[in-house]
Amino acid sequence: MKNLGILLSGRGSNFVAIADSIAAGRIPDARIAVVISNRADAPGLEVARARGIQAVAIPSKGRPREEHDRAIAAALLDHQVDLVCLAGYMRLLSAWFVQQFPARILNIHPSLLPSFPGLEAQQQAFAYGVKVTGCTVHLVDEELDHGAIIVQKTVPVLDSDDEHTLGARILEQEHIAYTEAIKMVLEGNFEIAGRRVVRGQRSEVRLQK
Ligand code: GRF
Repeated sequence: MKNLGILLSGRGSNFVAIADSIAAGRIPDARIAVVISNRADAPGLEVARARGIQAVAIPSKGRPREEHDRAIAAALLDHQVDLVCLAGYMRLLSAWFVQQFPARILNIHPSLLPSFPGLEAQQQAFAYGVKVTGCTVHLVDEELDHGAIIVQKTVPVLDSDDEHTLGARILEQEHIAYTEAIKMVLEGNFEIAGRRVVRGQRSEVRLQK
């Protein structure tokens, strides 16, 4: 059984999608050991508690980044977390934190990286006028929205779209993509060659228990 730790700052729809996928058997042999938010008022914390999942607020406001990250890492280790999933976690992680969990932190981003990193990626893509956008689940490295790509899903931009309709269709794909990526990473059935994550190989970086 692998333990997931979810970090979030907001509503938590990706967290809910992951929890639903575990309950439905789409992510086998896994459980969500803890949900942690840097904001005490994140709706995702309440959703977690309502589902009987451990949920902890570790407020970041006014706290030096690495000191806060050390508190988060301690909570993850307390819950024996094997894989950290960022799910709308709106705070940059320190290099120190990333180094504590090598190839064991995933992030989801609402664009086809490397296009439109950073905030409001859906709006960036819409305003740029691209005809296709989507979402990316990637390993987290020390650069923002940058690590090796695990799964991408495309979403066409329709003439009838506005930022909100586009964002909603991207979000549907995010929920599918995150489940696929977590399943693949937990299975360890891939190889990382440079930046390329190639399926069907036994992973050098598979999770140790
Ligand atoms: C998602 O769009 C995700 O890609 C981005 O933040 C948003 C979080 O949404 N990183 P939710 O809290 O999971 O609903």
